[in-house]
Amino acid sequence: MSILALKSISKNFGAIEALKNVNLNLDKGQVVGLMGDNGAGKSTLIKIIAGVFQANTGEILYNDQQVNFSKPIDARNSGIEVVYQDLALCDNLTAAANIFLSRELFKKFFYIPFLNYKKMYDVSQGLFDELKSETRPRDEVKLMSGGQRQAVAIARTKLTEAKIVLMDEPTAAISVRQVAEVLDYIRQLRDQGISIILISHRMPDVFEVSDRIVVLRRGSKVADKKISNSSPEEVTALITGALQSA
Ligand SMILES: Nc1ncnc2c1ncn2[C@@H]1O[C@H](COP(=O)(O)OP(=O)(O)O)[C@@H](O)[C@H]1O
Ligand SMILES: [Mg+2]
Repeated sequence: MSILALKSISKNFGAIEALKNVNLNLDKGQVVGLMGDNGAGKSTLIKIIAGVFQANTGEILYNDQQVNFSKPIDARNSGIEVVYQDLALCDNLTAAANIFLSRELFKKFFYIPFLNYKKMYDVSQGLFDELKSETRPRDEVKLMSGGQRQAVAIARTKLTEAKIVLMDEPTAAISVRQVAEVLDYIRQLRDQGISIILISHRMPDVFEVSDRIVVLRRGSKVADKKISNSSPEEVTALITGALQSA
């Protein structure tokens, strides 16, 4: 079942054609690995889906409806989340504060809004219970194990009922142990029916978690196939241009 379909998306920055007639389909619960050399257009594609940039031509269907996200909050409110490097948690905040970051709950007392800590702790506890995690809402993230950090990141996507998670180089600048955690996080999201686009330069990561591989070269899509029908050698050749398309 297609949750997202990009139809003939093009994007120019002045004379630069960052994307040329790109079609891309994403199914529910599917992980698509998006690869390509620097400047191939990967981040631009993600930013168009996330409402950061608008395409010059083409259309986006989300749940079979045409959408036009003019700003990131529109995409986010529709269930499209972007996760940047290292799960992007704030170490100095509690688990609950991370989950509710920029979506804090308030209560009014004589018309004056106060942060509703009790409600945020309660909702966070409920999310951790659902995830069967021992993570405690009041604990600071900097004191947490990798598994607990992951639970916080997943709880955040559950809170917003994310349907699509876009990851731009989430494993670029982290340790081997953390990479394993991020890959595990991707599998857990997928198991909950969330669709994922993973941008990464790390071939083993992409091959480990993706169902499909899409390769961009100079703004054009040059491959889109099941991961089991491809190989790291083929993808490298596609990225460099040694192989025109596959
Ligand atoms: N905000 C921008 N303004 C101008 N040019 C941009 C901008 N963002 C990206 N580009 C250009 O678009 C092309 C694709 O960039 P990008 O999507 O960042 O590639 P990738 O993520 O694959 O490395 C590059 O030529 C880049 O210089
Ligand atoms: Mg990029």
